[in-house]
Amino acid sequence: MPTNSEITHWDKHHHWHAFTQMAEYEPLVIERAEGVWLYDLEGNRYFDGVSSLWCNLLGHGHPRINAAIREQLDLVAHSTSLGMGNRMSAVLAKRIAEITPGDLQHVFFCSDGSSANEVALKMAFQYWRQCDEPQPQKTKYLALGQAYHGDTLGSASVGGIARFHEIFEPLLFDVIRLPTPDPRALPAEVAKPQAAEFFLAQLEAVLAERHEEIAAFILEPLIQGAAGMVFHPSGYLRGVRELTKKYHVLLIADEIVTGLGRTGKMFACDHEEVVPDILCLGKSLSGGYLPLSAAISHPEIYSAFLGDTASGRSFMHGHTYGGNPLAAAAALATIDLLEEGQVVAKASEKAKQLGAWLDKLAAHPHVATTRQHGMIAAVELTASTDEVQAYPTELLVARRICREALQHGVWLRPLGDTLVIMPPLSVSPQELDFLGDAVLKSIEIVTAEMSVHA
Ligand SMILES: Cc1ncc(COP(=O)(O)O)c(C=O)c1O
Repeated sequence: MPTNSEITHWDKHHHWHAFTQMAEYEPLVIERAEGVWLYDLEGNRYFDGVSSLWCNLLGHGHPRINAAIREQLDLVAHSTSLGMGNRMSAVLAKRIAEITPGDLQHVFFCSDGSSANEVALKMAFQYWRQCDEPQPQKTKYLALGQAYHGDTLGSASVGGIARFHEIFEPLLFDVIRLPTPDPRALPAEVAKPQAAEFFLAQLEAVLAERHEEIAAFILEPLIQGAAGMVFHPSGYLRGVRELTKKYHVLLIADEIVTGLGRTGKMFACDHEEVVPDILCLGKSLSGGYLPLSAAISHPEIYSAFLGDTASGRSFMHGHTYGGNPLAAAAALATIDLLEEGQVVAKASEKAKQLGAWLDKLAAHPHVATTRQHGMIAAVELTASTDEVQAYPTELLVARRICREALQHGVWLRPLGDTLVIMPPLSVSPQELDFLGDAVLKSIEIVTAEMSVHA
């Protein structure tokens, strides 16, 4: 049995961590988890304040999800979805078809968010070559400034956050990029209530000119997560749907983060009664237990891929573990739990409590602003107490606050200088108070230290 210090050393030395500067990495090794709590090797516990990177939906170690995985394990752990199926993924596909908006009903499974988006992009491309009135010149994609759709080369190409993907620029394909529809970035002469109209006019100008070459518009509906929780103006998504229909451009909704109840409704698209052409789910789909994602399309797209084998119309894409029955069992249990317990509806009370904490945080002189949509929240810091002024990047203020939060029993991971708060929907009122209190204390301590050293 290895000692804790051996494990810690192996974690630092052999495990190359994602988006982590390994030279500075200070190992925090989790041994087990229960509910909202993560426990490290020494038994210290930390509130999972970002739901293990936005995926744990109903808490860790949920008995129903664990049992569903165990039961499936006794039947089959994995069988391929290339040319055959398995009971669990068939039932899950049917269930996803029932809960997703409109006539979305054909579910292509993969294992992570990036690959679901990769699938959606390729599906859109192949669709335009094979649909009733083929338009093979439609080879371009439209995407938003500061979009994030994953890290594989296709999903990174449509991404728009320079600090993530700049170095790979020579490897990425060209994308038609629209400005981020961020109401904070409106020109002075445009009033806030006109924000959606303003950004939609930008979209229409591009579509009017270039729609014939555009296969699809991919966007994160309502909230651009990795951009720092940028919230789109209300009405923007619906307008996007109307315009993409008008100009015959497919709409891909990347609900990897927003799907499955995070925003206060089952899907972000539900807020504006939008049915995209392809909807991508990931992260919370399996409750955050096992790698599972999906790209879901409607019959018009699906039928363009039908024909005999010799026609070459099959979708030319696949991942070994797509449709994995263990992950599907976890997802089915998650959807059951969401629906049985009316978890999404009940989360609105918790969202109110989270909102009350955000108000307290917003009253702190070094908090510029807070934003919230359901159980997704962001806190923006300011160096100056008189005006909104970002801290110098090199001070890594949000990172310091997250490190301080660890001392108060909370695990958080910032996005640049934005603090993200995204607890599992299963959080109790007492746990939410614990989280809010720890975040407030951490902000107080770190900003006070920074003021002393300024
Ligand atoms: C909106 C969005 N799409 C896609 C992804 C990529 O998902 P994955 O990390 O599972 O590949 C993420 C990850 O954070 C995301 O925020």
